[in-house]
Amino acid sequence: MSQPRKSAAAALAARAVSGGQNDWPPGWGFNSHGINTGRYIDPRFARLEHERLWMRVWQAAARLDEIPESGDFTTYEIGDQSILLVRIDASTVKAYYNACPHRGTALAEGCGHFGRARIICPFHGWRWDLTGRNQFVLERQEFCDGHLRDADVALKEVKVELFAGFVFINLDPDPEPFDAFIAPVRSVIEDLAIGDMHHYWWKSISVPANWKVAQEAFFEAFHVPATHPQLEKAGAEMIFGDRKDVEFSHRNVSYDVYPHGHGRFYGGKKTPMAGHVREDARKGDPVDDMAARLKLLVDGMDAMILQEDIDILMSLKGKPVPEGSSLGGEYMKALYARAAEQGRPMPKPVPEIIGMWGGEVFIFPNLMILPQAGNAMIYRVRPQGSDPDHCIFEILSTKTYPAAVTPPRASVERVTDIRDPEQVRLIPRQDLGNIPRIQKGLHARGMRHSWLAADQEKIILNMHRELDRYLGS
Ligand code: FES
Ligand SMILES: [Fe+2]
Repeated sequence: MSQPRKSAAAALAARAVSGGQNDWPPGWGFNSHGINTGRYIDPRFARLEHERLWMRVWQAAARLDEIPESGDFTTYEIGDQSILLVRIDASTVKAYYNACPHRGTALAEGCGHFGRARIICPFHGWRWDLTGRNQFVLERQEFCDGHLRDADVALKEVKVELFAGFVFINLDPDPEPFDAFIAPVRSVIEDLAIGDMHHYWWKSISVPANWKVAQEAFFEAFHVPATHPQLEKAGAEMIFGDRKDVEFSHRNVSYDVYPHGHGRFYGGKKTPMAGHVREDARKGDPVDDMAARLKLLVDGMDAMILQEDIDILMSLKGKPVPEGSSLGGEYMKALYARAAEQGRPMPKPVPEIIGMWGGEVFIFPNLMILPQAGNAMIYRVRPQGSDPDHCIFEILSTKTYPAAVTPPRASVERVTDIRDPEQVRLIPRQDLGNIPRIQKGLHARGMRHSWLAADQEKIILNMHRELDRYLGS
């Protein structure tokens, strides 16, 4: 590293303690230029996050698709806490600590259905209805001198809010209001029809990296030419070859940050649907070129863009693009026309929402929604137990379904090898290939902090600022 950068690093290290937490170790600080490595590798920092963030923040515990019918249940694990989520009726879900009040047995594991609307502990058979009211205590007269009250042994509730097809929970008995928490991103998520999306596939992966490292790999688009060279050939030729002066796609991406730690990035007017034509797609037949590009996403992810979308695009082949329109614009009209025929919900057809396609909305602390035309990919990342070096990384591919189709119940598949092409498609496999390497590098004693790009990595900085608001209070 050159001399001037060394002095910049020294100055950064000297200013590293941030957020007013002046008694914190220097490794836990950050400033607008970079994030200190202790925040990703220190077990004490992970413990602080557990107590002050995860036990107090609104977090997506489930999709409603996991529990579509009354009596369906699923469980959600965060750190050492297990939460039981139960569908009561069409509009009500309740969440309980997953513990029997008698001796503590976890009342459920995984996902399933409580037959006859009864929750029965497997140890001594105490029983509750779906609303958590006790119905049966074996040998009741033996407890509390025969004065055990139902209220003493009701299931202990956790706060719940339903939004956009998610079940959000908060373990704080007196949390900040959900409406205030979600307000900065509510309308964009509603207009993207995320609440109408249903299960297509869902995978859960144990990744050897801190949960923040894993999610921050998806907070910007400028990793695309190096990490996914097939998606940005010209950029890759500049990085890995001798090409100069390329039109980098990531420069077409805008980044916004919001209060409460949320953020988003998007192409806006620079998306193909808004008529933008990429430099490397100006050669052959425009429909074939666009289809070939979309196929990279179908084959590489099977999410966001699906084969059925390409079939609609191919129906435009040979048709002239009307004056004043574009291929992207015509494709969009065809997508909406097909959806209307099928009674399939779609995002609101306004420029601000169309411009979000191919971008991302981040909901603090750990949920990323990547929308497209009636499909969305969702990433959810959280710590695995209390280990700062491991996280649970999930990918949910979702879509809206035609009115005549009943969407399937969501069920998760566990990935056993992140390098296995049979289990993880190319694009997430490329991202997941880097993530453990980042974690490894963050342990290097010669590595004190990362460097942040002021605009393109500002969602990372905003996230850490909000994290410190929780950790410091
Ligand atoms: S531990 Fe549940 S009934 Fe005894
Ligand atoms: Fe990526």
